[in-house]
Amino acid sequence: MSIEIITADITQLNVDAIVNAANPALLGGGGVDGAIHRAAGPELLHACRALPQVAPGVRCPTGEARVTPGFLLSARYVIHTVGPVWHGGLRGEPALLASCYEQSMILALEHGIDSVAFPAISCGVYGYPPELAAPVALRSVGASMPAGASMQVLICCFGDAMASIWRAALNDAG
Ligand code: APR
Repeated sequence: MSIEIITADITQLNVDAIVNAANPALLGGGGVDGAIHRAAGPELLHACRALPQVAPGVRCPTGEARVTPGFLLSARYVIHTVGPVWHGGLRGEPALLASCYEQSMILALEHGIDSVAFPAISCGVYGYPPELAAPVALRSVGASMPAGASMQVLICCFGDAMASIWRAALNDAG
């Protein structure tokens, strides 16, 4: 497995799957969620709306992941996951964030995905400090990968400052 930190618009990547930092309703939003829905086209919203609600207005609980086709994206799949809102770190945020990456990796492996790009889940609107999110995320991705798996994992940052934080965390992870 290889993990690479890049700076790009995730909707433009030529990978098998891109991960969306969504909200529990899975009906779109701002940030990367909005960008992915705009780039994928209206069928993505239809596919999300068709996913079963597990509670009123909830199609994907925090920490879980769901998969849909990518439609107009070059990515075949979109893996939608819902990160935790940051409340200071004492409400289970690290474990929920780790679960987002783990559950997304499980779906990627189940779907035979060879290359997957993650955004910095929860590091935008949800306020998770990137310096704290990156080590949690990288540890979870590494732990979710079977030995010898050849999947390419990209962490797609939306700016160089964010990429620097994630590169430092990747270097620290050794
Ligand atoms: N490509 C890659 N990364 C992007 C893009 C893009 N096109 N657009 C935004 N990002 C980055 C942000 O800069 C941030 O670093 O994705 C990271 C996650 O930020 P958000 O999109 O705000 O996601 P999150 O913090 O998980 O909040 C999720 O925001 O958009 C709503 O519906 C979404 O309610 C949910 C919440």
